[in-house]
Amino acid sequence: MTSLPTVLILLAVLSGGLCEGRTFQQRAGTAFNTRSYRSILNVTNGEQFGDWTWVEMCPDKFYAVGFSLRVESNQYGSDDTALNGIRLVCAKDEDRSFLYTIESHTGYFGDWSSTQYCPTGVLTSFQLRIESHRGLFGDDTAANNIKFRCSSNPVLEGAGMYWGEYGDWSQTCSDGGICGIETKMEEYQLGLDDSTLNDVRFHCCDRSQQ
Ligand SMILES: *[C@@H]1O[C@H](CO)[C@@H](O)[C@H](O)[C@H]1NC(C)=O
Repeated sequence: MTSLPTVLILLAVLSGGLCEGRTFQQRAGTAFNTRSYRSILNVTNGEQFGDWTWVEMCPDKFYAVGFSLRVESNQYGSDDTALNGIRLVCAKDEDRSFLYTIESHTGYFGDWSSTQYCPTGVLTSFQLRIESHRGLFGDDTAANNIKFRCSSNPVLEGAGMYWGEYGDWSQTCSDGGICGIETKMEEYQLGLDDSTLNDVRFHCCDRSQQ
């Protein structure tokens, strides 16, 4: 007689194979940086620490359709860094089974959240939640969270931290959508106050150009 655990495992394997479908997801890194873009989206409330790092672009015909965040949770009295990284998920047309990711330089603290997707369409603008500079003896976290607007209109808010405030919306990609990212990152402070991610800007690519 077949034991119950065996039956359960068999069911799990079968349903996984039938319902889930396979998703291919690969880091693009800087491999597609020769892609041409129309404009760069930025916001005015980015923080001052660190430097702009490097660009990563989605492959031709791919646009960002979702994102996940690397967030360090509350450290209660120890050094907080809040938002450490933003990973954009790039797809072609509405095919969400073959994906590339781009993230530029990310910080080393916290865990990646699950991906949040636009119901349809692509990311077209953003808003950044920033904790302003805490002064000489304060604990700076800089970027805490991000919201994106989708071309289909919904706004997606990340599962970031709650310090600071949102600033104004960036410009909006006029045609197509977000296709590239560059972060402004404070390097590891060797035991001093880390703030990690301070600012971000995104590239817009046109549909008509490709
Ligand atoms: C945002 O981008 C515009 C156009 O590229 C530029 O003129 C402006 O200085 C940027 N603003 C900030 C705050 O970086």
